[in-house]
Amino acid sequence: MSRGPADVHAPAALQVLITGGSGFIGRHVVALLKAAGHHVRVADLDGFPDKSVDSVTGDLCDRHVREDAVTSDIDAVVHLAAATSVLGSIERPTHVHRTNVEMTAGLLELAREHDVSAFALASTNAVVGDIGQRTITEDLPLAPLTPYGGTKAAAEMLLYGYAGAFGLRTPVVRLTNVYGPGMAHKDSFVPRLMRAAACGGGVQIYGDGEQRRDLVHVGDAARAMVLAVLSWPTGPVIIGGSRSYTVNEIAQVARDTTGRAIAAERVAPKPGEMPAVVVDIARARSRGFQPSVSLVDGMRSAWADFAPSPDGHGSVDARD
Ligand SMILES: NC(=O)c1ccc[n+]([C@@H]2O[C@H](COP(=O)([O-])OP(=O)(O)OC[C@H]3O[C@@H](n4cnc5c(N)ncnc54)[C@H](O)[C@@H]3O)[C@@H](O)[C@H]2O)c1
Repeated sequence: MSRGPADVHAPAALQVLITGGSGFIGRHVVALLKAAGHHVRVADLDGFPDKSVDSVTGDLCDRHVREDAVTSDIDAVVHLAAATSVLGSIERPTHVHRTNVEMTAGLLELAREHDVSAFALASTNAVVGDIGQRTITEDLPLAPLTPYGGTKAAAEMLLYGYAGAFGLRTPVVRLTNVYGPGMAHKDSFVPRLMRAAACGGGVQIYGDGEQRRDLVHVGDAARAMVLAVLSWPTGPVIIGGSRSYTVNEIAQVARDTTGRAIAAERVAPKPGEMPAVVVDIARARSRGFQPSVSLVDGMRSAWADFAPSPDGHGSVDARD
């Protein structure tokens, strides 16, 4: 059988390290890689729930933890571990630099020492900053608005340097807002909507709510990470749901999906907020990626983790 560009099955089973594998996207990446017959190792601050999965639990900013994670049997790395809060990066920029830049540099160096063949990074479209209402493509210059965006841009540059000097294949996946099952611990807009729906509360909407956002389902985001580490060449690829919605529209889809009235309180925009996220995913499509989940179906899948159970008990944390 011929293998198309979207095929996640490698000719031989690979040993893949997933940093941040206990997190929201990481758990989906682990499941996909395992289902495709690859061997996985997770390295994360938090333990992986399935104890049969090879795991290194600890802080990857610590060299000894990194050395336990990146060993000579590792063929490829999916690098997801990061400080992910944009607003948190404004409050604690040095912490974010240490985690997103220095930790990445340390992992890359070990990857080089152990002849790892591919190192895929989860990055963000926030690396391009304020481009008004224009569509984001991979060719735009990097001009991030926050330490989070800045550290992701810096990490991208480190990857390209290792590709140029040492031949490491370093695909970069620039994700839009990821949502779906397993995000009960997150603090982004969709889980805020879900929590508000579950508790009868409301959400804050920054500005007039007419800013446009692209949401990509976690299953699609994880598939993109797997395609990238297995086959995509060095360089950035934008991954999104391919359609942008206003924040007001997203809130309305959440009301329709959950059947709950979610109140909206308008507050002043936060620093570092991008005025619009409208992305062109043509490059991803040319490499076999296709978003497969509609916003309505995706919102329903996210709600399942938050909806109170029929016996009246509260929501569960889908991570456990
Ligand atoms: N979720 C999104 O909308 C989104 C969008 C763009 C990019 N990304 C990127 O995708 C990646 C995964 O994001 P996520 O949403 O799954 O986040 P998450 O917070 O659920 O997962 C991140 C994981 O990294 C681990 N981690 C953090 N610092 C660590 C350290 N020092 N040592 C070891 N482990 C550490 C955490 O314990 C966590 O399990 C991140 O790099 C993030 O920047 C996410």
